Amino acid sequence: MKGTLLLSSAIFLLQGVCSCPEKCFCHTSSNSVDCSHQGLAEIPPNLPPETLTLLLQDNQIRQLPVFAFQSVPQLRTLNLSNNSLSNLAPEAFYGLQHLQVLNLTQNPLLSLESRLFHALPKLRELDLSSNNISHLPTSLGEFWENLTMFAVQGNQLQHLDRALLESMPRVKLLFLKDNNWKCNCHLLGLKLWLEKFIYEGGITDGIICGSPDTWKGKDLLTIPHELYQPCPHSSPDLASSSQDQHPGSEEVPKSSENHSLGQQDLLECEAKPKPRPASLRHAVATVVITGVVCGIVCLMMLTAAIYGCTYAAITAQCNGGPLSQTSDSGKKGGKELFDSSPA
Ligand SMILES: *[C@@H]1O[C@H](CO)[C@@H](O)[C@H](O)[C@H]1NC(C)=O
Ligand SMILES: *[C@@H]1O[C@H](CO)[C@@H](O)[C@H](O)[C@H]1NC(C)=O
Ligand SMILES: *[C@@H]1O[C@H](CO)[C@@H](O)[C@H](O)[C@H]1NC(C)=O
Ligand SMILES: *[C@@H]1O[C@H](CO)[C@@H](O)[C@H](O)[C@H]1NC(C)=O
Ligand SMILES: *[C@@H]1O[C@H](CO)[C@@H](O)[C@H](O)[C@H]1NC(C)=O
Ligand SMILES: *[C@@H]1O[C@H](CO)[C@@H](O)[C@H](O)[C@H]1NC(C)=O
Repeated sequence: MKGTLLLSSAIFLLQGVCSCPEKCFCHTSSNSVDCSHQGLAEIPPNLPPETLTLLLQDNQIRQLPVFAFQSVPQLRTLNLSNNSLSNLAPEAFYGLQHLQVLNLTQNPLLSLESRLFHALPKLRELDLSSNNISHLPTSLGEFWENLTMFAVQGNQLQHLDRALLESMPRVKLLFLKDNNWKCNCHLLGLKLWLEKFIYEGGITDGIICGSPDTWKGKDLLTIPHELYQPCPHSSPDLASSSQDQHPGSEEVPKSSENHSLGQQDLLECEAKPKPRPASLRHAVATVVITGVVCGIVCLMMLTAAIYGCTYAAITAQCNGGPLSQTSDSGKKGGKELFDSSPA
């Protein structure tokens, strides 16, 4: 009797302490649960609530229910690499207040909901590599204060809004390679952001353009700014040299088919400041010419006055007539000279 009671209580205790899902290996010392490579189609039930690391890689998990990890709220690391996740409910990761590393590589994910990672304030590493994502929402996460690594290489991305990168102020590692980056005006903001990022010590594997054809295979960072036209209706800091006269500038490829169009823009920009110096020179010339003409006129007036006075004096001396008369005639002669002088 005593023996069976002891045995059953021992089994109960063992079950209580070491409750570990079937097909998983639980390492109590590190609070990690390894369910990798077990052919699982869904998240195993009965996960120990104190789990810090959950390894679910190399399975065939197709979807995650809402609040999928509610039973393991302490989770720090979650590995879902190499599964069959093609879309994720926005509430899938809710409740993971402490999650620091999330690995979603090698899944067939097509897109991500904008609220998907909003409940993960402590995230440090987010790996979305080797999926099939063609678009990333701008508000993928909230303000990710501590995110240092963000990887999206090996997807189908064409654009990446710099606002998304601005939501991760501490990011130091960015993996962006092997996408289908469309190096048009919309990627200029990203280029400027990346230049600052690298200047400040950030590391990235680069953005290799997938289109347009002229830039295919080129690194976004090596393409000069001057070849980009600002997008219509883009933010004012980028549209400073507003190019409203190019209604087709939505598609930079048009101009980049031949770089000469870009160079034309550059010439236009360089030519714009020129009119100012030219008109200034014009104004200066006008002033100089006016001054010279005035000087000549004044000189002529002076000459005429002197001539008139001398003439008057001579006639007065010769005729011996009254001075008042001669002075009048002298003035008249002077006046005649004035009238004829400008001609
Ligand atoms: C992905 O998981 C499957 C098992 O589901 C495995 O056979 C395959 O080798 C894994 N692939 C990689 C790249 O690890
Ligand atoms: C996730 O699993 C892969 C193996 O599939 C492993 O290489 C990687 O280090 C794991 N990542 C984490 C954070 O555990
Ligand atoms: C995620 O898992 C892959 C292997 O599947 C591994 O190469 C990668 O380093 C992991 N990422 C992180 C952040 O641990
Ligand atoms: C970011 O990390 C610092 C230092 O580890 C920590 O004090 C802070 O609470 C973290 N912020 C968030 C939102 O987790
Ligand atoms: C990736 O998505 C494209 C369409 O965007 C599709 O044609 C292709 O088959 C997908 N590839 C995989 C591996 O799911
Ligand atoms: C492209 O520009 C070059 C000069 O930069 C010019 O010789 C060439 O004809 C142009 N090609 C087309 C298709 O306009």
